[in-house]
Amino acid sequence: MTQTMPRPVQAPARKNGAPGGPCAMVIFGASGDLTKRKLVPALYNLCRQELLPENFAVIGFARSEQTSEAFRRSMREDIKRFCDCTPDPGLWDWIENRIHYVRGDATQPESFQALRAQLSEVERDHGTKGNVLFYLATAPEHFGTIVSQLQAAGLTQEREGWRRVIVEKPFGRDLSSARALNEELRSVLSERQIYRIDHYLGKETVQNLLVFRFANGIFEPIWNRRYVDHVQITVAETVGVEGRAGYFDTAGTLRDMVPNHIFQLISLVAMEPPISFEANAVRDEQAKVLRAIQPMSEEEVLKLTVRGQYGAGRAGGKDLPDYRAEKGVAQGSSTETFAAMKLGIDSWRWKDVPFYLRVGKGLHARRTEIVVQFRRPPFSLFRDTSVEELTPNRLVVRIQPDEGIQLLFGAKIPGATMRLGTVDMDFRYQDHFGIEPATGYERLLYDAVLGDPTLFQRADMVEAGWSVVTPVLDVWSALPPRNFPNYAAGSLGPKEADALLERDGRRWYEPEPAAKP
Ligand code: BG6
Repeated sequence: MTQTMPRPVQAPARKNGAPGGPCAMVIFGASGDLTKRKLVPALYNLCRQELLPENFAVIGFARSEQTSEAFRRSMREDIKRFCDCTPDPGLWDWIENRIHYVRGDATQPESFQALRAQLSEVERDHGTKGNVLFYLATAPEHFGTIVSQLQAAGLTQEREGWRRVIVEKPFGRDLSSARALNEELRSVLSERQIYRIDHYLGKETVQNLLVFRFANGIFEPIWNRRYVDHVQITVAETVGVEGRAGYFDTAGTLRDMVPNHIFQLISLVAMEPPISFEANAVRDEQAKVLRAIQPMSEEEVLKLTVRGQYGAGRAGGKDLPDYRAEKGVAQGSSTETFAAMKLGIDSWRWKDVPFYLRVGKGLHARRTEIVVQFRRPPFSLFRDTSVEELTPNRLVVRIQPDEGIQLLFGAKIPGATMRLGTVDMDFRYQDHFGIEPATGYERLLYDAVLGDPTLFQRADMVEAGWSVVTPVLDVWSALPPRNFPNYAAGSLGPKEADALLERDGRRWYEPEPAAKP
């Protein structure tokens, strides 16, 4: 273990919110992609916003043989590539002086003794006061081993400071493995020490859903089965499997995106108003929604779900090969790169209001959005005019890119005849607040340092999500291999996904320019 003494660099001045208290952050999987693409840039952004504590240190833990100096050097290069800005040398020096590295093997107790020694050093040199945030950014099969080793080395006990563990996704691959992982974690840690992260909850527009619904008086009265016809959630990506076939081909889109990211979106759209903004008050209401989503019978899975796999095409300005021809994908793989389904939430508020969702890779555009479509007026006052069809009112919450909220409604097109067009009121985040470079992890890391678990998932929420998804996975895996590909990269996805809505007399919302006179 190598360590150089920090150079005397001025800490950035504090201007905005209060930084968290002293602490060390230990990243397991420090030489992996997540660390360089998201975690270190997020730390840099927090530093820029003056939200990191003065008494702070980062310890990278990974198997590769390197010194702290070499680790710092590689982080310095990576931050230039991944921070979406030109890093300020003064700020980066401030962080770099707090970065250390421990070479270790998660199965070896000696590695955790080395970590323990390094933690004592940073406590002495950086004044981190025994508070430690452990971040499990490794492959999921190591999660259990790491927490057991942490416990065996006495590193999970809160003697002088707090000890918290952030657990990355995937959290299990079905209900039983998620339950087993929860049990494993809770045999070592108390629930209040476990922070199950879902980076969707770090996105501004996702957090804004709570503000939009509960800090405004005008939407909540119509946010129910009486006025809402249905809800659509689209998470479209243009990218393919992007060198992650090793993980993705054994997971598939449903596991990768639905029980976590998409169910977070559904729970925030559908939850009842919590009695306060306290962590458990919010999460209780989210958990109730997840428990109210009706798991499907085998027949329903066949009728109400669609899966797809992309074939060669051009998406996001790049040529993609057949998914099955991607490096690392098993020959003749039946793994889905697209999933769509119709879900029902059995609650007084949402009974009989379908929630349609579609998610996929290799699609025509990168777009994550929630569309709340309202019922049409009870009858058309304009039926004897040339107005043939009234377009329904829609509220579109754009999560990325181009974050914002848009309300679509009908308006008379000027002229002697009665003609209607769809117009909109459009709020774009960028116009009002500007956009700061962000990875989505900043808020979550900051909250974990502060000890606020509101935006992290509880065990019951994770298990409720898997309870809905597991029956679908079971039916899909029991079916004979599909005749994939069934959609071309760069398209809107498989035709069956359109049929899923058409059967109900509905269609997916595709943004189109507002009608001009
Ligand atoms: C990750 C998935 O959790 O989320 C990826 O594993 C996916 O497959 C990514 O591409 C999408 O995140 P974002 O923030 O780009 O929408």
